Amino acid sequence: MSRSLDDGFRVLVSAGSKHGSTAEIADHIAKELTGAGFAVTVADPKAVDDVSAFDAVILGSAVYAGRWTKPARKLANRLVESGTTSPIWLFSSGPLGDEPQSADDAVDISSILEKIPARDHRVFAGKVDVDVLSFGERAIMSAVKAPEGDFRDWDSISEWTHAIAEVLAVRADHESAGPSRQVG
Ligand SMILES: Cc1cc2nc3c(=O)[nH]c(=O)nc-3n(C[C@H](O)[C@H](O)[C@H](O)COP(=O)(O)O)c2cc1C
Repeated sequence: MSRSLDDGFRVLVSAGSKHGSTAEIADHIAKELTGAGFAVTVADPKAVDDVSAFDAVILGSAVYAGRWTKPARKLANRLVESGTTSPIWLFSSGPLGDEPQSADDAVDISSILEKIPARDHRVFAGKVDVDVLSFGERAIMSAVKAPEGDFRDWDSISEWTHAIAEVLAVRADHESAGPSRQVG
């Protein structure tokens, strides 16, 4: 089932997050898409009920030890199992510091990309506040000498979101006027 912008083209924005900074990226994306006129649901991956109820999905995750969080991976699998044909965009948030990293270097989501024909997968820099980390996480951070701080680049997140909004607006327009509409 699909809907035009006027009917409330429904977009799901969901991100796996352990310490909140990736969830804030999801909130930012959701806010911008809401401002562009879409009916946006922003939800923790564990709280998403019906994955096939959306006309588009933006799914992201924080990166830990080179991987997505388990709830985000599970939601990706549920999307595959649902057989949805809605467009899907993926993002990862992890790299710390100001050096840009390629998607392949930052995170391995090849098993997800094999199953989901994502429109795009973007890697955004992340944030670490050492005070909220567990003892084990702190030990890892110190072993790999990762820098502490908030490296999220809101402008580049907004830019990516605007590009998605443009694609969705065309799609919503097309669907409101498309051949699937039945007359009589
Ligand atoms: C223990 C630990 C391991 C991490 N491993 C990676 C990693 O392998 N690759 C990466 O890009 N970022 C890594 N990060 C950085 C996190 O992905 C980054 O801090 C992210 O913004 C955390 O998101 P969250 O606050 O939503 O959990 C790691 C951070 C911690 C604390």
